[in-house]
Amino acid sequence: MALKHKLNFVDSELQKIKQNNLHRKLRYGTSQGAYITINGQKLLNLCSNDYLGIPTTKIQINQLQSSSRLVSGNDRSYKKLEEILAKHKSQQNSLIYPTGYMANLGAISSIAKKGDLILSDELNHASIIESCKLSDAKVVIYKHNDMQDLQKKIIQKGKNKFVITEGIFSMDGDLSSLKQITEISEKAKAITIVDDAHGDFVIGKDGKGTPDYFNVAKKIDLYISSLSKGLGSFGGYVASQNNVIDLCINTSKSFIYTSALPSFLIEYSQKRFQSNREKQKKKLEKNTKQISKGLAEIGYNINSSTHIIPIIIGNEKSAMNFGKFLFDNGIFAQPIRYPTVPKNQARLRISVTAWLSCTNIEQVLGIFEKAYHKFG
Ligand SMILES: Cc1ncc(COP(=O)(O)O)c(C=O)c1O
Repeated sequence: MALKHKLNFVDSELQKIKQNNLHRKLRYGTSQGAYITINGQKLLNLCSNDYLGIPTTKIQINQLQSSSRLVSGNDRSYKKLEEILAKHKSQQNSLIYPTGYMANLGAISSIAKKGDLILSDELNHASIIESCKLSDAKVVIYKHNDMQDLQKKIIQKGKNKFVITEGIFSMDGDLSSLKQITEISEKAKAITIVDDAHGDFVIGKDGKGTPDYFNVAKKIDLYISSLSKGLGSFGGYVASQNNVIDLCINTSKSFIYTSALPSFLIEYSQKRFQSNREKQKKKLEKNTKQISKGLAEIGYNINSSTHIIPIIIGNEKSAMNFGKFLFDNGIFAQPIRYPTVPKNQARLRISVTAWLSCTNIEQVLGIFEKAYHKFG
């Protein structure tokens, strides 16, 4: 095939990315329990979002209905799962989107408009950042989890005010200061939105999520979450009061103008929701404690109290070397670099899962000890 010279500028764009050690390549991996096989090499998987490690769920795959939900893609299984998710979040209603990313885009752009003010934590996920841009509202970033900064900025003018935060921050693993956020929001009459993609199904009573963990679930006006992490399924959803869900159905472009998830995935989520999540949750808690404690004892600086444990390396190239060392020693923990995290804050993001056995954890700690001595 002849190369098109009109596209030569693409090479210089790629060159810039490579020069900064930020180039990414797709890998092909097959996951099985605690392991992932990449290029024929079986590695312990420390970067899966399947936190609860719910054992495989069997479902039947029938004919696919490929259409938007507002056309012919709305199977009855949706209604059942949406009722379950609304109850799970103690909200009137919920709405499933094809992904968590699309749930953010759709919901935030549906309710925040020109003239409104959005206060967004500086470490919020890319899908929140893009949603805020789509909304046409004025977006003000407050310093990460800094309540004084939020307090200072929330007094700015806005027709409707929104405060948006993650529940557990995806790349740092720390918990959002939800108690204070809900108090500040309440005083300013702001609407509180929590994207709990990483806390949902994992923390709080019955896995109800981060707001439940802080006992402020009733103060959250809109939940956004993913079915692709703690639940180990696929999809995203929002939960709120009836009128918000109705507005999302009617105005979310990422809901209206895209095909619905196939119903077998909806059934899959439902079955996983109804599985013994509590047993997996306890195992995850135990594994998290064991890995955090072990890493701290080796000498790593561990600041996270959750199943997401970042080891900050700093320099992008060093992070890649660290990741390669782990890979060569049987561990898959993908280095995370800019733009996912700020420049020079590259890190190994370890995500603990309930899949890991005690023997797996001993093996992980042994290799991290070797890495600690090698890299200092
Ligand atoms: C905080 C947060 N929100 C939303 C998403 C998107 O979820 P999904 O993978 O279902 O699109 C992610 C994914 O990593 C996330 O970390």
